[in-house]
Amino acid sequence: MEYKNIILSLENEIAVLAINRPKALNVLNIETLKEIQSGVQEFKDNAALRVLIITGTGEKAFVAGADIQEMLGMNSIEALNFSRLGHFTLKMIQDLDRPVIAAVNGFALGGGTELALACDFIWASETARFGLPEVTLGVFPGFGGTQRLSRLIGKAKAKELIVTGRVINAQEAFQMGIVNRVVPPASLMEETKKVASQIAANGPVGVRLAKMVVESGFNMDLWEACMLESYAFSLAFSTEDQKEGMKAFLEKRKPTYKGR
Ligand code: CAA
Repeated sequence: MEYKNIILSLENEIAVLAINRPKALNVLNIETLKEIQSGVQEFKDNAALRVLIITGTGEKAFVAGADIQEMLGMNSIEALNFSRLGHFTLKMIQDLDRPVIAAVNGFALGGGTELALACDFIWASETARFGLPEVTLGVFPGFGGTQRLSRLIGKAKAKELIVTGRVINAQEAFQMGIVNRVVPPASLMEETKKVASQIAANGPVGVRLAKMVVESGFNMDLWEACMLESYAFSLAFSTEDQKEGMKAFLEKRKPTYKGR
C-alpha cells in the first residue's frame, strides 16, 4: 500500500513503521493517524511478521506531538473525534497480537510520548526527550497519556510530569521506568532490531499468548489473571511448536518454529 506520512518496511520477520513528516517533526495529524491504522492493519494481516518497530524518520524527532496547527481551530466535537481517533489508533497498537517496540530517536512529546507508551516497550537513543507538555498549550494529554503513564510509573510521578509539562531526557525516562534501554543514537535501530530478532526467534504462539495474558490480566484480580494464564498456558500445548521447543531442548539443538 502507498502511504504519504508513514513508511512501512519489511525485513524478514520484522516490520518497521516510521512516521515520516520530518520537516514537521513527525507530528500526528488526522491523515497520519489514519495511515498508522492502515500500516498496523497491514502488519496484522501478514502472518509471517513477528515484531513491529515504530520509529520516526530524521534525526531530530520520534513524534513531536499532535499537530498544533490542525488542533488550533478545532471545536469540542472535532477535538473529541480527534482524541478518539488517537485512542483507537493507539489501542490497535496495544492490542496487536504480536510485540511492538518503540524506537524513540529524538523528541517524543505529547502524542509522541503517548504513541510510545502504547507500544509494549521503549528503546530510546541518548538524544530522546519525553514529556507531556500539553498544559503549556492550555490543554492536557488527549491520546491516553493521563492513563497509560500513571499505570506505568504510578500516579504521583505521572501527575508531576503532566501538570508541569516538564520534558525529561532518556536517562531520567529510564530511571522512571518509562524506557527499557538507552543506546547511542547511531545504534538505536540496530539494537532495536537485535531485540526484535531475539523475539522473532521464539515460539510465535507462546509470544502472542504471553503478550495477551500480560495485557488482559493487568487490570484483573490476581487470582483471575492467574486462571487466565493457566488457560492460555494449556492452549500452548495444543501446538506443534510446544513439542518442537521442548524436544529441541532435550536434543540439544535449535528449535524450528512453525507458528502452529
Ligand atoms: N504541531 C505542529 N507543528 C509542530 C509541532 C506540533 N506539535 N512541533 C513542532 N512543529 C513544527 C514547528 O512549528 C516548526 O515548523 P516551521 O518550521 O514551519 O516553523 C517545525 O515543526 C520545527 O519545530 P521548531 O522550530 O519548534 O524546532 P525546535 O528544535 O526549535 O523545537 C520542539 C523542537 C522542542 C520539539 C518544539 O518544536 C516543540 O516544543 N514542539 C511542540 C511539542 C508539543 O507541545 N507537543 C504536544 C502537542 S499537543 C498534543 O500532543 C495533544 C495530545 O495529547 C493529543
